[in-house]
Parts: sequence; C-alpha cells; structure tokens
Amino acid sequence: MIVVTGGAGFIGANFVLDWIAAAGTPVVNVDKLTYAGNPANLAPLKGDARYVFAHGDINDRGLVAGLLQRHQPYAIVHFAAESHVDRSIHGPGEFVQTNVVGTFSLLEEARAYWNTLAEPAKGRFRFLHVSTDEVYGSLGSNDPAFSETTAYAPNSPYAASKAGSDHLVRAYHHTYGLPTITTNCSNNYGPLQFPEKLIPLIILNALNGKPLPVYGDGKNVRDWLYVGDHCAGIRAALAQGRLGETYNIGGNSEKTNLEVVHAVCAILDELHPAGAPHAKLITFVKDRPGHDRRYAIDAAKIKRELGWEPRERFESGLRKTVEWYLAHGEWVRGVTSGAYRQWIASNYAAR
Ligand code: NAD
Ligand code: DAU
Repeated sequence: MIVVTGGAGFIGANFVLDWIAAAGTPVVNVDKLTYAGNPANLAPLKGDARYVFAHGDINDRGLVAGLLQRHQPYAIVHFAAESHVDRSIHGPGEFVQTNVVGTFSLLEEARAYWNTLAEPAKGRFRFLHVSTDEVYGSLGSNDPAFSETTAYAPNSPYAASKAGSDHLVRAYHHTYGLPTITTNCSNNYGPLQFPEKLIPLIILNALNGKPLPVYGDGKNVRDWLYVGDHCAGIRAALAQGRLGETYNIGGNSEKTNLEVVHAVCAILDELHPAGAPHAKLITFVKDRPGHDRRYAIDAAKIKRELGWEPRERFESGLRKTVEWYLAHGEWVRGVTSGAYRQWIASNYAAR
C-alpha cells in the first residue's frame, strides 16, 4: 500500500493509473479536489478495491495521521500542490498554504508515523517529494542545463513555494533521518492536463477558433517531458533512489513556446482540417511578469544511478496528446466550466 497526495490532478492521476497497471498494489489518494483535482481522471478505477479515495487537505493533520495509521503504507508520494505559475502571480497565498505549510504538515505526520514503525517496515519506508525544475530559476541560452547541484534561485511565487517545500524535505532527512527522496522535473504534457497550461490551452482554443495566446516574444524555452515518462522516473526513484538525494528528471526536448504552438497547429491541421491553418490564430500577448527565459534539465544522474531515461519523443507524445483531447470531449466539457471561464477571463482579458 502507498499513499499518494494530489492524485486527482494531472500527474498524480497518471501516476495512480500507471501504478495500479504496473505494480498492481493498492493506492490511497488524499486530495482536496481544488479546481485542478478531478475525480473523473480516476474513473477507470471505479469499483477497483486497489484504489481508495480520501477527500481532504494535506493540512488536515488528523485526517493524514488517521490514514497513515489505518493503511500502514510503505511510501508516501507527494504530488499535492498549487501548480500554475500565472495563478501564483494573481494570488500567492494558496501556494504558500499548500506547497509550504501543507508539505510541512505532511512531513510532520510522516515523521510521527515513521517513528511508530518497527524494522523492517521502518527501513523500507520512503517519503518521495515531487518537485519542479523551476526552483533553479532561469537559464541564458548558452548556460549548461540544471543539475542537482545548481543553486536554487526561484523567481515566481510558485517556484519559491516549491523551493521552500524542497528545503523542508531536505531538512527532515538531515535532522530527523526521515527517508526522503526528491525529484525535480521539467514541463510535463499528456492526457488529463488541466487546460490552463500551455499545451492543452492551445489545443482547445485552436479547436474552438479562439486566439492562441503566446506570452512576450514566444522564445521562452521549456524542456518537455511526456507525463508517462515522468511517472516511470518517480517509480524508479521510489524503488532504487538513494535516501536524502535529489534526482532531476527531464525530456531532453528543449523547445521555444512558438515551436510548441506551431507543432500543435500542424497536428490539428491534419486531424481537424476544418479550422486549418490553425496557426493563423496565434496572437502575441503581454508577457508573464518575471517570465523565466529558459529551463533545461541535465538528467544524467537518474540515468546513471537508476537507469531511467525518457522513452517518448516529443513529436509522438504531442500527437498522442492532441488525439487524446480530440477523443475526450466529455472530459473537456467537464473541466471547462464556469470557474474555468472565469480564470481565462481574469488571466487574459487585460493582456
Ligand atoms: P495539478 O494542479 O494538476 O494537480 C494538483 C492536485 O493537488 C489536484 O488534484 C489538487 O486537488 C490537489 N491539491 C491541491 N492542494 C491540495 C491540498 N492542500 N491538499 C490535498 N490536495 C491538494 O498539478 P500537476 O501538474 O499534476 O503537478 C503535480 C505535482 O508535480 C506538483 O507538486 C507540481 O509542483 C509538480 N510538477 C509539475 C510539473 C508539470 O509540468 N505539471 C512539472 C514538474 C513538477
Ligand atoms: O517546469 C516545470 C513547471 O512547468 C511545473 O513546475 C509547473 O507546475 C507547470 O505549470 C509548468 O510551468 P510553466 O509556467 O512552464 O507552464 P505553462 O504551461 O504555464 O507555460 C509554459 C510556457 O508557455 C511558459 O513559458 C509560459 C508560456 N505560455 C503559457 C500560457 C498558459 C504562453 O505563452 N501562453 C499561455 O497562455
């Protein structure tokens, strides 16, 4: 049995589905079901005794303590977070509350539970913290990619709150010996991603004939990784990662935002020719404040130590992703409700 936090979100849900398919062992998912948490993401597990859902906040210490005592997991995989940079600019408070205070609360309960365990369960226990490459700040075009020893320099409230959570995890290992592992991953894409993020937003706007908003000059670079590869990297780190270590996970796939948007449009021109050429909808809009110019991940450590590397190529992963959104109209209708439309209006109206 493992406990996952934030398993109703994009990466968490992909992880839970892949875990049950690959490992077949039970998962308890603690999720607050914010706007980003969607029980429909886990609909394939309805009636499956290996999946237990606990609706709640990681800040609810009583809830978390009770779940750990009842289910006696051998690992906690911590995804729960506020994850969208633009939302952190509009309202940073929730980011501190969940990403920093929530991670602290979870670490406290994990430590208390771990202290109740006897060997061999105590030695086997793991706290795996899922984090981001954004903690390292921004690269210039000729800078080497982020490695695990790159100094932290977070630039957005989101990145700062994730950096704070990483430091707490590090301290709980160093001070209390809690068996932690942290992964810092680059931009994910794939099925089930909430359409506030670049790739699904562009797919859905293009399908609806709406402008495709590109921030600034569109030359910011991200290192794209297919979500299934990220989930495999987390499983490898959980199984064989060294305690107290951090592992960078990336896609070896640096692209400018304009390249990404054009690639989505080209796939849609082929699969949905009615709106072609979709690239005519590209609209340059006011930049994100403090917008990091470039992220790139050096994933040599996880390859060397754990044998993990990305399997999906960006071109094939992006095509699968576009096909998924085309085939899941009901899911899309479910998440693009009134609250979604409100967010789109508040983020884009003044740009
Ligand atoms: P997401 O926003 O899609 O999902 C977050 C989930 O956490 C939702 O289900 C939400 O309901 C839940 N949640 C939020 N606050 C909670 C709380 N207080 N208690 C319990 N549950 C809560 O996020 P995602 O894109 O799936 O990211 C998951 C994790 O991976 C995050 O920690 C994020 O920082 C990290 N990460 C994301 C990316 C990416 O490209 N999306 C890349 C690297 C790392
Ligand atoms: O690098 C990992 C991070 O990737 C994760 O930690 C975050 O949780 C995840 O949201 C993501 O952050 P980004 O800010 O890079 O992702 P986003 O999809 O919001 O934006 C990707 C790039 O596209 C970024 O340079 C901003 C740009 N962009 C985004 C949106 C939503 C646009 O040009 N237009 C848009 O409308």
